[in-house]
Amino acid sequence: MHSAPAKIILFGEHAVVYGQPAIAVPFTAICAKADAQRARRGSGLTIKAHDIGKVLRVTPHATGNPLVFAARLTLDKLNRRPPDLTIHIRSTIPVASGFGSGAAVTAALIRELSAALDSPVEGDALNDLVYEIEKLHHGTPSGIDNTVIVKGAPVYFVRGLPPEPFTIGRPFTLVIANSGIPASTRETVGAVRKLYEADPPTYQRIFDEIGGLVREARAAIEQGDAPRIGFLMDRNHEYLQSLTVSSEALDKLIKAARDAGAVGAKLSGGGRGGNVIALADPADAERIASAFREAGAAMTWLTTVE
Ligand code: PMV
Repeated sequence: MHSAPAKIILFGEHAVVYGQPAIAVPFTAICAKADAQRARRGSGLTIKAHDIGKVLRVTPHATGNPLVFAARLTLDKLNRRPPDLTIHIRSTIPVASGFGSGAAVTAALIRELSAALDSPVEGDALNDLVYEIEKLHHGTPSGIDNTVIVKGAPVYFVRGLPPEPFTIGRPFTLVIANSGIPASTRETVGAVRKLYEADPPTYQRIFDEIGGLVREARAAIEQGDAPRIGFLMDRNHEYLQSLTVSSEALDKLIKAARDAGAVGAKLSGGGRGGNVIALADPADAERIASAFREAGAAMTWLTTVE
């Protein structure tokens, strides 16, 4: 059995598509798992995606489904024919909600399939394959999701550069809320692209300012300066509002968290749905989680980033 965690973007979503840095961390409370079982001789490779009720056959020329495509890319890379296996995929990561579910499922599948063939694909090679599949899901992804999910460690990410690991000066508590509103990253990224194309100087300035804020956030995280991290989350959310990727429902969740004592709060990921995150003093975390639920969150989690 192999797995891959979910992820949370702490700072810099959207601006990261335009070359600015972003910070993301793995979120291990939810994950995708792939489990291979031998199948009858000659039966070939089948993927059972239990959460979506799909049974997929991997034939040499099959296309279309991203899981099938991931398996085919893996076989091509290893120069192997489909083995007689059934790979069961199960995931506790909500789909289309900014947790990187597609990247996690793909990473778990490639890990399990390549290990079953005694040629484990890991590290940069795995990251490259998962990125290929991310393109099917999102069009023009920055690569941050696959990078943090494959690495399984906090990353400071700039598109096209090797991710920089960095240290967390002092552990901090996040309350994560899923709005229950499905969000298409492809659509929000497209909406921001339209704004940018209509007025490049204005939006370039916003991206640059977000970039500056992310660099400051990295220093604050390394120094363990929670009040500063919270302040920067609030500012980052304002910029995301001016990029039109927040929404009434997300702003309501964020206000509820702040009213319940959050040190800072912002949307996380593509926006217009998906997740919001709040930085919390551990003593306030449960209260913030309840405030999120009262304000309409479908699910909440507490996590310590360390
Ligand atoms: O919606 P998510 O969590 O997959 O985040 C997308 C992050 C964006 O910056 C909006 C897009 C990207 O490719 O980086």
